[in-house]
Amino acid sequence: MDQKFITNSTEETFSKGRQFAQSLLAGDVVALSGELGSGKTLFTQGIAVGLGVEDIVNSPTFKLIGEYDSTPLLYHFDFYRLESAEEAVALGIDYYFMGEGICVVEWADLFPQLMPDDAITVSIAAIGENKREFFVERRQAETAGG
Ligand SMILES: Nc1ncnc2c1ncn2[C@@H]1O[C@H](COP(=O)(O)OP(=O)(O)O)[C@@H](O)[C@H]1O
Ligand SMILES: [Mg+2]
Repeated sequence: MDQKFITNSTEETFSKGRQFAQSLLAGDVVALSGELGSGKTLFTQGIAVGLGVEDIVNSPTFKLIGEYDSTPLLYHFDFYRLESAEEAVALGIDYYFMGEGICVVEWADLFPQLMPDDAITVSIAAIGENKREFFVERRQAETAGG
């Protein structure tokens, strides 16, 4: 999947999420950023389906953590309503991030200090009514030693 791509519809964003899921490994953390309505939830739902989830429940905007019964397990976080980093720590966010599930975080940029250094970042920008620009960045694993 390209580092940069544009989608022209809701369906396309969903299917890009499904495709993106194929590149994810157990333990990965995905940091999503982009304004309200950019497509973070849709992209995440695509990821869930890509990981084998059949029933997509609603966005966890009113919940801090959503769990999907996929393989690997998918944890869907939304920092939009998080009031402090401490609140997330109290919910055990570090354990989710260190675990073997896949974590996807909407509004990750609101609390960058919570995100692991090796998170895969996906930045989404609305560049038209139905056009969204995606930018995916994977940090290269650093060489051990030295
Ligand atoms: N290319 C596109 N990709 C994603 N969403 C789109 C696109 N074009 C229009 N939309 C609309 O934008 C909104 C995205 O909503 P959502 O995924 O909930 O955004 P977010 O979680 O970033 O707030 C939906 O109403 C969707 O129909
Ligand atoms: Mg959302």
